Amino acid sequence: MKCIAKDSALVPNTDLLVVFAFAGAPPMLPPSVKLPKPFASAVRGEFREIRHTDAAQGPSPRVLVLGLGKPAEFDVERLRRVSALAVQRAESLECANAVLWTSKALISAVKGGRNAGAALAEGASLGAYRFQTHKSKPKNVKLQRVTLCGEGSDFAAGVERGLVYAAATAFARDLQNQPANFMRPRDMAAAAQQLARRGAGVRCRVLGAPQIRKLGMGALLGVAAGSQEPPQLIHLTYTPKGRSRGRVALVGKGLTFDTGGISIKPAGKMWDMKYDMSGGAAVLGVFHALAELGCPFEVHGVVPCSENMPDGRAVKPGDMVRAMNGTTIEVLNTDAEGRLILCDALSYVTARIKPDAIVDLATLTGAVVVALGHEYSGIMTRSDALRDELLSAGEAVAERLWPLPLAEHHRDLMRGEVADLKNIALGDPGAGASQGAAFLWHFVGDTPWAHLDIAGTAWGASNRDYVGGPMGSGVGVRLLLRWLETRRG
Ligand code: BES
Ligand code: ZN
Ligand code: ZN
Repeated sequence: MKCIAKDSALVPNTDLLVVFAFAGAPPMLPPSVKLPKPFASAVRGEFREIRHTDAAQGPSPRVLVLGLGKPAEFDVERLRRVSALAVQRAESLECANAVLWTSKALISAVKGGRNAGAALAEGASLGAYRFQTHKSKPKNVKLQRVTLCGEGSDFAAGVERGLVYAAATAFARDLQNQPANFMRPRDMAAAAQQLARRGAGVRCRVLGAPQIRKLGMGALLGVAAGSQEPPQLIHLTYTPKGRSRGRVALVGKGLTFDTGGISIKPAGKMWDMKYDMSGGAAVLGVFHALAELGCPFEVHGVVPCSENMPDGRAVKPGDMVRAMNGTTIEVLNTDAEGRLILCDALSYVTARIKPDAIVDLATLTGAVVVALGHEYSGIMTRSDALRDELLSAGEAVAERLWPLPLAEHHRDLMRGEVADLKNIALGDPGAGASQGAAFLWHFVGDTPWAHLDIAGTAWGASNRDYVGGPMGSGVGVRLLLRWLETRRG
């Protein structure tokens, strides 16, 4: 499906014209369109209310009216959602094309054309997302073109930006949704290489097992020891065209399947652990968009990739591994593997890249799901500035974050008996998400750093029309893009 922007004064002829209505007000219509009176007066304008009729007059034989709810409750997130609903209805009505028409009033309700265009484009594009790679009879969708009509010089720019955000998110979703036998560490590495071929300004280096060993990444190697698949360390670099406003590093957990290892998980829902690479998918998704957005920062994306499998060669509970920075770690539970592959990635980033800020994303703990559920990702950081920047980016794109504590005593819980650290705390002190973050804290030195635990939000959030449901959500991509777009260097 192709999505384009047009000025709202120029409504093209179409199979389906979509217009919007606030609660208690008549539908907002282009001047040439007339709706049958009884239909128009039946529209109540409740949020997500959806009705269609034949038009009495205008550029389309059929008009769909979508409810926006009360003006005071209306925001960009509602606009994303109704845009997705409109496209999904256009698909089920088997239209070849559709026009979504927005009035001046609607655009000012979201504070301008840029916001409106971006929200409409994200909603339309992500609402039409499908993963059909492995369907022997993929659903044949007739809808070819969606035209977004709006006013103002920045409306078209907003649409363009929304489409770039959506394409990057869809790229991440595709990686997430692949079964783990199609998305092995080497497949993630290939996807990263493909990004470097596609976008100007993006380079990719993939380190294989021999190089990982040479760097002394014993924690990553330990997790991979039980698998037939060698680990991979992806390092993507984006260099801006002009002067750089600073250097940031994004780190993502790329665990392509988590059985738990010798500390094996129960069988129920173990299939969901193909999504344990969602943090890595988000980082790759970001690199899909950086060049197109003209990002002014030098951005590094580091994704350690591995499977976590039980085997005769696998690390056993109590075994000791040595991380790249020399820290020794007792692996008391082989299912707490995310922090092990990430600690080597974080050591690498701090020692080799020396960024101004690090953000890591990981499906790290079941505990964050208990604490926050599926609508909020946990954010744990010692930097108030990073926390505030990321919280407001999350609010803007409706990928919401909620702070969880990260204190010295969490850090102390992770100190080891035999070795420097242990990968789980003893004595069941609770605060599992903070423990995971505290373990990682030992590897970032003084670099400002934020850890996002996306175990609850990477899949399985409640359906919000363009996002949520049982498949991969692509969470993190729009959040980080927005953060990079609004961050002051
Ligand atoms: N990948 C899991 C975390 C997870 C669980 C993500 C459920 C999404 C849904 C992680 O590797 C893990 O197994 N963590 C353990 C840590 C524990 C052993 C300290 C957990 O949360 O149970
Ligand atoms: Zn695990
Ligand atoms: Zn895991």
